[in-house]
Amino acid sequence: MSELALLGGQPAVTSPPRERWVQVNDEVKSAVMGLLDQGIITISGPTGVIGEFEAEFAAMTGSRYALAMNSGTATLHSAYFAVGVGPGDEVLVPSYTWHASATPVIHCGATPVFCDIRPESLTIDPDDVERRITERTKALCVVHVFGNVCDMDRLCEIAERHDIALIEDASHAHGALWRGRPVGSFGRVGCFSLQGSKAVSGGEAGVAVTDDPVLLDRMILLGHFGRPRVGAVEVVNEIGDMSLGIKYRAHPWAIAMALVGLRRLPELNRLRTANYDFLNDELRDCPGLEVIDALPGATRGAYLEYKFKLSADAVRVANRERIVEAMAAEGAPVTADRYSDLNFTYGLLHAAPLFTSVNRRELGGCFYDPARTETPPRPSLPVAESLNRRLISLPGFTDVERESLAEVAAAMRKVMTHLDELAREA
Ligand SMILES: Cc1ncc(COP(=O)(O)O)c(C=O)c1O
Repeated sequence: MSELALLGGQPAVTSPPRERWVQVNDEVKSAVMGLLDQGIITISGPTGVIGEFEAEFAAMTGSRYALAMNSGTATLHSAYFAVGVGPGDEVLVPSYTWHASATPVIHCGATPVFCDIRPESLTIDPDDVERRITERTKALCVVHVFGNVCDMDRLCEIAERHDIALIEDASHAHGALWRGRPVGSFGRVGCFSLQGSKAVSGGEAGVAVTDDPVLLDRMILLGHFGRPRVGAVEVVNEIGDMSLGIKYRAHPWAIAMALVGLRRLPELNRLRTANYDFLNDELRDCPGLEVIDALPGATRGAYLEYKFKLSADAVRVANRERIVEAMAAEGAPVTADRYSDLNFTYGLLHAAPLFTSVNRRELGGCFYDPARTETPPRPSLPVAESLNRRLISLPGFTDVERESLAEVAAAMRKVMTHLDELAREA
């Protein structure tokens, strides 16, 4: 009989990790109830809890301004609009990310151009970025995916040399650093989701940071009717109180929750980093499994999820779904990574129908580049495509017992050392 739990053996995990980190804690409840008690249900300017959160978030990222919004997607659309992305323009963006890094590009009537990633960190590959720059390139969006910080030395240098606007999507990386400097502060705009699963969360919310008063005013113009601007742009001020009519204002209850999360971020990052480092150390020499290391110079943060890579040889013996099933049967909360698959739903963006085959003109609205008649051909991104059905995930563990994590690592190792049995059974 096999030792594997999936095939009748004893599960390796006897005491599964129980997450003791409570997101909606008493502090969140009393912060939100405090607003309710005062009858505060909307705030249109940088005052009250909105002002407090923006000031603290700006300080956390070392930025001059922060602008709270109702989603991370809203911050990305605002950033692209603010730096002037429009019809005929191209925006470079990694293929391995959540689709909201790229879809707001089409809201601006421009075209996303997908770039490959680095195999060791899963972050955008500066060499590939440079290869894909054309005279149409207006902006470059880098994504610190799953808390892994991009190579900001190279990317800042490339953006500056080619005079393209650098935008950071730091939705998975609140509090992460590059050479000691917070992510979000390198780009002309730094964008953060504060959605329910994020390290700093308002349930549904987002926040953009910038040092540039012109960009701040342009973001306010796009989505924040009634909010005072800093007066950096004449035409924006001429429009008076009006906005362009999109409403990206944040809900104060969401921001009250996010403020509590922001104040707990250093502790969350300390715990998540210690847990990930522990798992990586436990699994570094595990056959068939590769750990994802931070680039030299990067201090990871937030994470969202922990990622591990199955080797190409391992998935030839047993496929990822079978491996995930076997790890889950051992009691390890392992799942298949969503972004890396060529699966046309949440998968690699350069292969998604929305960007390759769908005729967006026919959809109506304005979600296409009017300056372009043809959909660009699907690019070749060998590194991203090599990850297809090879990445696996664990939750971003925060406050869990170390013994339970050791059991999870042992369970993963047990499956990887019995792959041939899975193959025989498949
Ligand atoms: C990398 C990335 N960018 C942007 C977003 C969009 O954020 P939101 O869901 O707050 O609109 C997300 C959300 O998960 C994300 O993961």
